[in-house]
Amino acid sequence: MTHQLPGERIHQLAELCDLNLWMGPGLLPPDALREELQDCQGLLCLLTDRINSDVLAQAPHLEFISSMSVGVDHIDLAAASERGIAVGNTPGVLVDTTADTAFALLLAAARRVSEADRFVRQGNWRQENAWAPDFFTGKDVSGATLGIVGLGAIGCAVARRARGFGMEVLGWSRSSREVEGVKGVSLDELLLRSDFVSVHTALTPETHHMIDAARIATMKPGAVLVNAARGGIVDEVALAAALVRGDLYAAGIDVFEREPIADDNPLLHLPNVVLTPHIGSATSHTRARMADLAVDNIIAALQGEAMPNCVNPGVY
Ligand code: DGY
Repeated sequence: MTHQLPGERIHQLAELCDLNLWMGPGLLPPDALREELQDCQGLLCLLTDRINSDVLAQAPHLEFISSMSVGVDHIDLAAASERGIAVGNTPGVLVDTTADTAFALLLAAARRVSEADRFVRQGNWRQENAWAPDFFTGKDVSGATLGIVGLGAIGCAVARRARGFGMEVLGWSRSSREVEGVKGVSLDELLLRSDFVSVHTALTPETHHMIDAARIATMKPGAVLVNAARGGIVDEVALAAALVRGDLYAAGIDVFEREPIADDNPLLHLPNVVLTPHIGSATSHTRARMADLAVDNIIAALQGEAMPNCVNPGVY
């Protein structure tokens, strides 16, 4: 296990196997991970652990990996599958929590919440600017059009929230999924028509930089981009440039191509970007449920059964 998990289920695991647990400080360094994996049959990891083909090649006894995450882009799935290594994830339980985060970013970006908070804290709210008709004016959410890129469970949960706010909801997914209350459109049309665009696809080689400079250039002038999926889906440099030019109004970003965020990430310096540190699923309740699913996957694998949530079931 590369990290302690919330809850008590670790004791159950300790009864079923010889358990090596990284106790820190900090995250398990990649070299230590390689070394530990040399003798391990199973791995319980987080999305911060990069399980690439190199790591797998040095883990000759590895049979199963359970990640406490729904996304598995940190694991080389092709290499794992080729070796017959089952990979488990934790879907479903974080849907509403992550949709709440995406919607919080959308509202905060539209109504300049972070900027206004900084303004108050920094002592800039004075008698001479106590209130004015154009003071901290933002962008209306109610009645606006939201485009959802990716209509999986989280995208659909964001759509439900948007309808509650009286938004028109457009949606695009690679599988042309039809969702009640969401008008299915092409990605081009979605970007052209949406006042707000929220990204909810998985990160795969096909979706890497899917929202790039060319696509950002086709977005409705003054639109807001929200990303609570994976950083690699959006070209951050192109996004920052569009925000600086004023082509886009604002952005709300929870995930980054490099995490923790690189010191030279241009988004760091833009006042109209709300930044959060990959907290999409971060409620105690949801994290406990994710940990439970991750442990359930390991227990099944230890007992020689198929993991209940396996992303490469072809290995069985
Ligand atoms: C996941 O589980 O993939 C999420 O990004 C965690 O918030």
